[in-house]
Amino acid sequence: MAANKKLLVLAGDGIGPEVVGQVRRVIDWLDKRRHVSFDVSEGLCGGAALDAHGTPLKDETLAEALAADAVLFGSVGGPKWDNLPFEKKPERGLLRLRKEMDLFANLRPAMVFEALADASSLKPGLVKGLNIMIVREGTGGIYFGSPRGIETLPDGSRRGINTQVYTTAEIQRVARVAFELAGKRAKRVCSVEKANVMESGQLWREEVQALRDKSFAHIELSHMYADNCAMQLVRQPMQFDVIVTCNLFGDILSDCAAMLTGSLGMLPSASLGPLDAKTGRRHALYEPVHGSAPDIAGQGKANPLAELLSFAMLLRYSFDMGEDADLIENAVQNVLAAGVRTGDILGPGMQPVSTSAMGDAILKQLDRLAA
Ligand code: IPM
Ligand code: MG
Repeated sequence: MAANKKLLVLAGDGIGPEVVGQVRRVIDWLDKRRHVSFDVSEGLCGGAALDAHGTPLKDETLAEALAADAVLFGSVGGPKWDNLPFEKKPERGLLRLRKEMDLFANLRPAMVFEALADASSLKPGLVKGLNIMIVREGTGGIYFGSPRGIETLPDGSRRGINTQVYTTAEIQRVARVAFELAGKRAKRVCSVEKANVMESGQLWREEVQALRDKSFAHIELSHMYADNCAMQLVRQPMQFDVIVTCNLFGDILSDCAAMLTGSLGMLPSASLGPLDAKTGRRHALYEPVHGSAPDIAGQGKANPLAELLSFAMLLRYSFDMGEDADLIENAVQNVLAAGVRTGDILGPGMQPVSTSAMGDAILKQLDRLAA
């Protein structure tokens, strides 16, 4: 196996460095036990970069991200940087990476681990076996549209502006990813917008339907308004297979779907760019759905499993290492089944373990599974 898998690790702020630390242990394990080596470098992003360099993402770090085969990301942000001007906020570091790496397809799976069905806020019967894939558009929409800004009106009051904007190409390239993923799953895509009140939503609906009719006739496509989708997610989540939606609705609906699984601390994500036909590569960044959780940062309480599962996605999507990804996912299953839990996924009568004790348990399982 080639030894030059270039990995850039951006641990970020809050619990980011703690959970990434556990993944580093698994990377060492892969090196030792599976003879898979990565060429790992580290960089700063978010508040950490701001404190060190006065910017949430240095040009050099961006260049490294563009040159890497994959980026493993932690989390950014925290109260310390809340009152900074917009362009300096830690979150801009992440958004700039998404934009400059052209990470238009943000894959956010929401799956319920057998052992955690009780931790869901819904009745276990409604979520048992749940496995939804949310495909969130990542480089367009209201996050990046212009005009944007805050302006002062002649009477001294102010006006805030953001713009939701999508083109045919932007809609269809993310819809294509959704259809392709659905083809390997239950073959159902639900496209979500607000076509009843937004022209961009109407266009979204028409373009997704046109692509389906032209190239994906074997996939069942339905359309749903975003508000209804939020309701359906908590009413009967098992009706969904793949959901495809814009940047903003995807942000909201993926948090909602995440909670169905019992904990935000369990969910990984992958952000993928377009395939480069020449190199066969695509830019990719993997990050947990949870944020920097400043309230528990630095206390060794954070759940490292979402970061670990993000790393499993990295192995699967960027390096075609499905077998190793399976190993990690199975280790997570087994550790949960054995009742090893961090505080966020604690069941009745269980004692919480620390971030590093969870890492210990994962490594022990990996040893067992690979024996
Ligand atoms: C997410 C986060 C980000 C977003 C923030 C941190 C910029 O909420 O990845 O879901 O809004 O996209
Ligand atoms: Mg979010």
